[in-house]
Amino acid sequence: MNVASKVPGATERKITRLSDLTESQQGAIRRIPAEKDAYTDPIAASRQNEIFTGQARFDAEQEKIFNRFPVPITMAALLPENGSVVAVEAYGKPLLVSRTRDGEIKVLINACQHKGSKLVEDCEVHKQGRLTCPYHAWTYGIDGKLIGVARSDMFDNLDKSQRSLVELPSKVWGGVVYAQLDGSEPDWSNLSDQVAEDLDALGLESGHVYGRQTFDLKANWKVVLEPFLEGYHVQRLHAASIGDLFADAPTIVDTFGPNIRQVSGRIGYEPEMLDADENANIHKLVTHAYTAFPNVVVVTSQYYTSVMLLMPYATDRTIVHYYMITPGPATTPKAKDVFSRSYEMIIGVFGGEDFRAAEISQAGLGAGVPKETVYCGLEENIVRYYDEIEKLLD
Ligand code: FES
Ligand SMILES: [Fe+2]
Repeated sequence: MNVASKVPGATERKITRLSDLTESQQGAIRRIPAEKDAYTDPIAASRQNEIFTGQARFDAEQEKIFNRFPVPITMAALLPENGSVVAVEAYGKPLLVSRTRDGEIKVLINACQHKGSKLVEDCEVHKQGRLTCPYHAWTYGIDGKLIGVARSDMFDNLDKSQRSLVELPSKVWGGVVYAQLDGSEPDWSNLSDQVAEDLDALGLESGHVYGRQTFDLKANWKVVLEPFLEGYHVQRLHAASIGDLFADAPTIVDTFGPNIRQVSGRIGYEPEMLDADENANIHKLVTHAYTAFPNVVVVTSQYYTSVMLLMPYATDRTIVHYYMITPGPATTPKAKDVFSRSYEMIIGVFGGEDFRAAEISQAGLGAGVPKETVYCGLEENIVRYYDEIEKLLD
């Protein structure tokens, strides 16, 4: 429910330079070793099949994480203009996210106070000041207030002020709109201020949603998450697409409570490259990947950033909301071409490769194989993340 703050200057920039990043991000980048000097220690770690397939584990995650703490709903950048609203189906709930005339983001339940009808049925962004129910035409402001009732003379003693749309406690954090699904007082303590600052520096809030897509996957949300926490698969699963751009080892990891920041040098990386040109696009040299509690994935590319919200629906079903965020809309033919090719490429890589890997893994896990998944040194972040999640389940 806070007023969105824009990052000054971020909208005008086309690329991100090292100096645009937070001190913490710059410090992490400066610690990345040259590819030839990088090493990773082996580890011995595993998890039982049950965490990906068991109903009891799924229910515990719902109770102790997704219904207990604030969860991501959408991106604030989807509503750049005051007086706009979008319907979002999130975690099985019909929601509305609006930006009021004052610029405040609100999360409301997309259900009329008369008989529960959805007020907005599509998922487009609408620029409008009010919402009229399609059923009996009760009218609400996009702040949720009931302002008009058709044939109100037929209701004896109807107090409009008591029938506003249900609002969920919410907050924009690093450009992500979070809300507390059960309506209770939110506990924000798992979200990291540093990660929010980092994401602001990457321009997530001030940016433009170039494209978005929803994927309905037959896989546990953690199976969908895993490839974004490890570099082990990159040169292998992505051998035919982006695998050549990345080396196995040089990654610097920082944790902020149950939030993980990974920054990796691209293929052939050497620290001297950072100071060759202070105006260079830093994302030509390094890639940022964040896992923000509990289910937000952020991955940078040269000219855009990908954000994925992994919403668990069942032990073996996850709905992913993918957003491609660019610094601004494409205004030149060259930018149009770059963004449209990038969008096609990234949907192909995440959708056709990472999400496909998640679905084919879940097929085996669902058949009980393997009984235990083993993790290597290149996958250590997965284990770190599970350690954090499991503390909350205990
Ligand atoms: S259900 Fe909305 S006005 Fe009747
Ligand atoms: Fe991947």
